Amino acid sequence: MSKQENGVVQPWPDQLILPDSLYTENIRQLHLSIEHEWDTSRRSACQIAAGRALWRHVINDPLAELLAGETYLKSLYEKIKRDCVNNAREVSGVMIAVRTLWFDQQLEEALSSFDCGGGATTQVVFLGAGMDTRAYRLSCLKECDIFEVDFPDVLQMKTTVLKEATNEQKQQMMTAKSLKRVAADLREKNWLEKLQASGLDLKKNTVWVLEGILYYLSHCHAMEVLNVIANNTASAHTVLLADFMNKQSTKMCSSIFHFYSDWPDQLLQSLGFSQVKLSQIGDPDAHFGLLHDPLNLFDKLRSVPRSLETHPEDGTPCCRLYLLQASGAPPIQTIP
Ligand SMILES: C[S@@+](CC[C@H](N)C(=O)[O-])C[C@H]1O[C@@H](n2cnc3c(N)ncnc32)[C@H](O)[C@@H]1O
Repeated sequence: MSKQENGVVQPWPDQLILPDSLYTENIRQLHLSIEHEWDTSRRSACQIAAGRALWRHVINDPLAELLAGETYLKSLYEKIKRDCVNNAREVSGVMIAVRTLWFDQQLEEALSSFDCGGGATTQVVFLGAGMDTRAYRLSCLKECDIFEVDFPDVLQMKTTVLKEATNEQKQQMMTAKSLKRVAADLREKNWLEKLQASGLDLKKNTVWVLEGILYYLSHCHAMEVLNVIANNTASAHTVLLADFMNKQSTKMCSSIFHFYSDWPDQLLQSLGFSQVKLSQIGDPDAHFGLLHDPLNLFDKLRSVPRSLETHPEDGTPCCRLYLLQASGAPPIQTIP
């Protein structure tokens, strides 16, 4: 693969060399069962992990390869290779890289914005956690209790793969203070109860991380999830970090993606969140020096009014991914 494209040094190796840990019999069998038994929404967890693994020059996620598995790593690597040969305006996976870095940065900022006097613990909840490994890779979580929510089979598989790798002497050190995996279906009404039964305390400051999850839910279920969070911000500081597809994005694959919002900033305000900030990929806080071609798709979209569904120049659909941060704070105490 060329090492110099558009004047930018490309970090992609000519050959994809995968770690031995992926080739032990048990790990191979586990990944085979993911391919054969999981549906698209569950498998997306491995695809995203593959993105983080292959963008390792900007994302430090040493467990991503192991959790992604050979199939998804190879398929993304082939796409990246084609992009480089074709001088594509964006290299595949850049969206995952930018999104990951944005969530990392916002999470760190949210934690430092909480005034945790007296060493109070902060909680971070990952809804649709998939193969996320922030509990192992972010030092800003060292005082945080982490809760990962996903389907039971996804969390069980993640735990088994990580344990298997530990048996193979690839010790993973958790950076977070604690980690609980909470098996729950976000379409059901009891997911908050399950979190509370696992130790989530709504009186403690909490960051809710909804990365790559809302659009897998129906409109009704996604709104229910957002409402549950909005309705439980009264006792402590709450920060919500979430990405939203617009309508055109969900149309790309309407059998998989459902919920969308063209105006998620207004939506969150209407639910009671404050300090809502919307970013698009390519904005100064969602760039990370990764979008090199001035004509890249993301810049092309950012210059088009958000109200337009198709690009005025070429009629292509405006498929957007919005990155949102919002706060819910306890009501200000009035002195009688
Ligand atoms: C695209 S992955 C994102 C994973 C992770 N947040 C990340 O960014 O790496 C979507 C995840 O949402 C989970 N998911 C989808 N629908 C869900 C539901 N109804 N309840 C719980 N988890 C769900 C899937 O199993 C999958 O792990």
